[in-house]
Amino acid sequence: MPEKIQAVKGMNDGLPPETSRYAHIEARARRILEAFGYREIRTPIAEYTPLFSRGIGEGTDIVEKEMYTFSDRDGRQLTLRPEGTAPAVRAYVEHSIAHADPVTRWYYLGPMFRHERMQRGRYRQFHQIGAEVLGAAEATLDAEMIAMIDALLRDLEITDFTMAISSVGSAEDRPAFRAALVAFFEPKKDQLCPDCQRRLVQNPLRILDCKVEGCRAASVGAPSPLDHLGEKSRAALATVRSTLDRLGVPYEIDQRLVRGLDYYTGVVFEPRARGGSLGAQTALGGGGRYDGLVESLGGPATPAAGFAMGLERLALCLPGEPNRFATPIVAAFVTDGEDARRLALELSHPLRLAGASIEVDHRGASLKSQLKRADKLGAHWVVLLGTPEMTERRAKLKDMRTSEQTEIPFDELGKTLREKLGR
Ligand code: HAM
Repeated sequence: MPEKIQAVKGMNDGLPPETSRYAHIEARARRILEAFGYREIRTPIAEYTPLFSRGIGEGTDIVEKEMYTFSDRDGRQLTLRPEGTAPAVRAYVEHSIAHADPVTRWYYLGPMFRHERMQRGRYRQFHQIGAEVLGAAEATLDAEMIAMIDALLRDLEITDFTMAISSVGSAEDRPAFRAALVAFFEPKKDQLCPDCQRRLVQNPLRILDCKVEGCRAASVGAPSPLDHLGEKSRAALATVRSTLDRLGVPYEIDQRLVRGLDYYTGVVFEPRARGGSLGAQTALGGGGRYDGLVESLGGPATPAAGFAMGLERLALCLPGEPNRFATPIVAAFVTDGEDARRLALELSHPLRLAGASIEVDHRGASLKSQLKRADKLGAHWVVLLGTPEMTERRAKLKDMRTSEQTEIPFDELGKTLREKLGR
């Protein structure tokens, strides 16, 4: 027997009915994002590596430890995208979108890749629903985005979450915060992992995001960026808060909120699941302002903000039984012989085109086993075309919910089914 080949570790197959839950989330997300003026972009799965190392930041876990990087046959370094912001910004610059439109709202849905340690809610291929606004600096926009995420979660009937908000401060605020961090961690240097000892010199903010236990312990009581915000950053955070208050969107200020990517420059946020449905993970999503990224990737100075949510994490929090969003089979044809199967196809075809989900059993199995399967599929109606029915040209129509059975002459069958199925 040839050896079975398995899927890559951490990269999962999406199977029904789970896929119907994904499709439901995606459809609701599209509806809400489009209502807020966002339009879809589709960027490639792979990009040249420097886009991410420069965009996300050299000292981040993603760039240092998690990227799927390889050289293609031309010898260029490519990386499977670990996130969608850097590719969106690359496309924005490459197509000179700023010239055509002063404010650009884009969203995307699709797979992302990070070589992370696997846990519930953490995979190596996962899917994000993300959005970016390029060209507007006003903090009311950040608030609008947070309110939109709140609306999307509630629309999905995910209500057991908190919206954590903070600010990491602008580029001008950074030196003071950085100095405070270095002063805090320098005496504890020996407790830090080798990566963080290096980060202490290069990018001390990253220590706060390290997943190593020793570093997490050493970070307790560390300074918060909120204590080092300049005038503008404080005003922006205040505007976000008062706007959300006015919109009635609940949130919590979290002094400890650090994002795993370097490009953030102001208000940041993370919707977090409560109640343990995500195991050790809690972040349903994350985002914030990144006013320097477009310029650092070769574009014009452009204020911007965005967020992304994890599709699988949303699906884990979605209430209801697994089949809730699956398309129900409304009718099943149980047939005996080729003539009966052909008749079943002929009758079901217009109904299927009208949107009814119909099963025709092609196995030539016994009527009993076909009936059993129809029952298992949850079909509301069964159309029985056995040998006596074919001879007498009358089908038996069974309502599986009431077990009531009626006989319908073939020439009335199409009409009766259309009525019963409401098509
Ligand atoms: P992020 O926080 O790295 O931000 O990822 C956003 C969300 O993607 C997470 O909150 C989580 O739901 C999901 N996610 C991340 N990694 C995994 C994983 N290994 N397995 C399952 N789900 C995962 C970003 O990616 C930024 N690009 C967000 C952004 C857009 N900021 C501004 N614009």
